[in-house]
Parts: sequence; C-alpha cells; structure tokens
Amino acid sequence: MKIMPLAGRGIEASRLVLGCMPFGGSWDPKDPITREDRLQAEKAVDAALSIGINMFDHANIYTRGKAEETFGALLKDRPQLREQMIIQSKCGIRLQDGENPGRFDFSKEHILEAVDDSLGRLGVEYLDILLLHRPDPLMEPDEVAEAFGKLKASGKVRYFGVSNMSVSQIKFLQRSLPDQLAVNQLEMSLGHTHFLDQTIFVNQQAGAQVNFAEGLIEHCQMENIQLQAWGPLAQGRYTGRSTQGEPEKVQKTAALVARMAKEKETTPEAIALGWLMKHPAKIQPIIGSANAGRIVACQDAERQSELMTREEWYTLYVSAIGQPMP
Ligand SMILES: NC(=O)c1ccc[n+]([C@@H]2O[C@H](COP(=O)([O-])OP(=O)(O)OC[C@H]3O[C@@H](n4cnc5c(N)ncnc54)[C@H](OP(=O)(O)O)[C@@H]3O)[C@@H](O)[C@H]2O)c1
Repeated sequence: MKIMPLAGRGIEASRLVLGCMPFGGSWDPKDPITREDRLQAEKAVDAALSIGINMFDHANIYTRGKAEETFGALLKDRPQLREQMIIQSKCGIRLQDGENPGRFDFSKEHILEAVDDSLGRLGVEYLDILLLHRPDPLMEPDEVAEAFGKLKASGKVRYFGVSNMSVSQIKFLQRSLPDQLAVNQLEMSLGHTHFLDQTIFVNQQAGAQVNFAEGLIEHCQMENIQLQAWGPLAQGRYTGRSTQGEPEKVQKTAALVARMAKEKETTPEAIALGWLMKHPAKIQPIIGSANAGRIVACQDAERQSELMTREEWYTLYVSAIGQPMP
C-alpha cells in the first residue's frame, strides 16, 4: 500500500486507516475487557499491518475507553510497534452520565484531561493527531487554541484536526489557531453519498433533501486538510452483509459491487473503497472492521481506485443513489 505525506505535513500515512472503535468488547462499562477481545484486536492490528496500514483511528469514548486500553495492552507487549504507527484519537464528546445528557465539550479542561486519559490508556507519550470529534455549539476558538498550544508545547500531540465539521466551523476555529488543521473526518461511502450529491444537485429540486455542508470538500482540498471517511464500508451493506429488507437501490448496488469484484478478480471491499478513493480529494477511508479476513480483503482498494474508469465510477454512483444524473 502506498504511503502519502498526510495533508502535506510530516506524517507518512497509509491510504487506508484501521478504525479501532470495535476494540475492547461492549460499550457497557460493567463488562470487562476479555482475553478474546484482546486477541481479536491483536489479529485485526496484525492483519492491518500485513497489508501496509500504518495508521490507527481511536476516540476516547470508543467502548468507553476500552478500545484505547486494549490497544495500549498490545503496545505494552510489543512496544516496537509504536514508532511504526500513526496514532490518531479524538475528544470532545461526553457520554451521558447520571443526570447529565450526552453532550459535546470543547472546553480547555476537557481537551487537556481527555488527552492525558487517552495517553494513559494507550500507554504512549504522544498522539500523532488529535481530532475534535463533533462540533460543540459552545466552542470558544481561543480556548481551544490555548488547549492545542499547551498540548503541542508539551509534545503530547503533534497535529490537530476535526471531525464532522462544516466549512464555517473550520474557518471559525482556524482563525484562532497558529497551525493549519490537518484533518476533517466525515461519513462518506456508497451508502452515504451526500458529499457528492451536494455537487451534482446544485440548482436542482432533487437536491432539496441533500444534507451536506456546501463547499466542504472543495474547502478541505484547497486548504490541504486531509479528508477521512468514517463508515466507508457502509457497515457491509454493499460488501456481503445480508441486504434483506434494504431498499432496492442498496440490493442492486450490492449485486453490482459483487459483479464488478468478480469481473476484476478482486473483493467487494476493494470495489466499494476503490470507488471512494478515486475521488480527487484522495480520501482516506477509516475501515471499521475487527475481522482480520475482512481487513485483508481491503488490500486491493487503492489499485482498484486507479483502475476504475469514469464510467464504472458513475455506474456505481448512479446505482447507489437510485436515480440518473440530472
Ligand atoms: N468521526 C466520527 O464521528 C466517527 C463515527 C463512527 C466511526 N468513526 C471511525 O470510523 C471507523 C469506521 O466506522 P464504521 O465502523 O462505521 O465503518 P465501516 O468500515 O463502514 O463498517 C464496519 C462495520 O461493518 C461491519 N461489516 C463490514 N463488512 C461486513 C460484512 N460484509 N458483513 C457483516 N458485517 C460487516 C464490521 O463488522 P466486522 O468487525 O465483523 O467486520 C464493522 O462492524 C470506526 O472504527 C471509527 O474509527 C468515526
């Protein structure tokens, strides 16, 4: 797998990233991390490394910290892996506790504390990248800048980015930051095409249902902000999971992906991801599988993106949205 300088900065990252959200077992805080959870995570990480993935995506909340803890246990056993890896984590979401609802928190205190907690669970000295997980309407950009400044100065975080943010939110935050944001992570896949629909349905009634921040993809491309796709496999809807009960366009597209994979002697995963990776923004899919076989099935994605014709790309897109281009 090719390695690229992430957003033109000093990070050499693989095009595919392993999402570590499933690590650590259940989200129930009462459930401990089991031996099976640890083994599954280790197999998944080894499968990722075996196909050239060197970047791993975390968040402080995944399985309520158990995902980072499981990853940390693996690094403790095999500390030589740390320097081969790019580790990204996120903060800014606080899960419901007691009377307090689930909420977002970009306060300086939360950001600093969350990073310390993530570093502790992962057992590492620094995060390569820290993302703000979901926009907080109470965000004070200067306060975020103070937190980022402290984290950078102390060597705890090398680069900063965001997730699920619009152009205006990025600009609003960026004004206060000395360094350019490096990443924006968004949901993008054959099953979540709003990032493209927004482009093609400009000035069209059919675009009324599209819910995507206008100009976001172009802004990230112009500002050299790396776009990362969460949910890139659409949780398997087009790559082999049962499509029973799914809308007709999903069933037809899943069949199309399977057919293309057979013709090209590759896997459905490589077709679905290759479609996403053909976009000129050089999107980095964050694959969320904890299944070693499925991770390896993603290996050919980059090559498929290079081989995919414009016609094949549009055939998949038109099928996925279930209507012709305007
Ligand atoms: N920034 C954000 O707000 C945000 C939100 C969500 C996720 N993320 C990140 O993005 C990563 C990926 O997200 P995601 O998990 O939604 O993405 P995904 O890669 O689209 O889906 C992975 C999930 O789909 C299942 N799956 C895939 N192919 C399958 C098949 N053929 N049959 C049955 N199940 C199949 C996987 O199960 P197996 O494990 O069994 O393969 C896994 O549960 C996460 O790990 C996390 O790092 C970020």
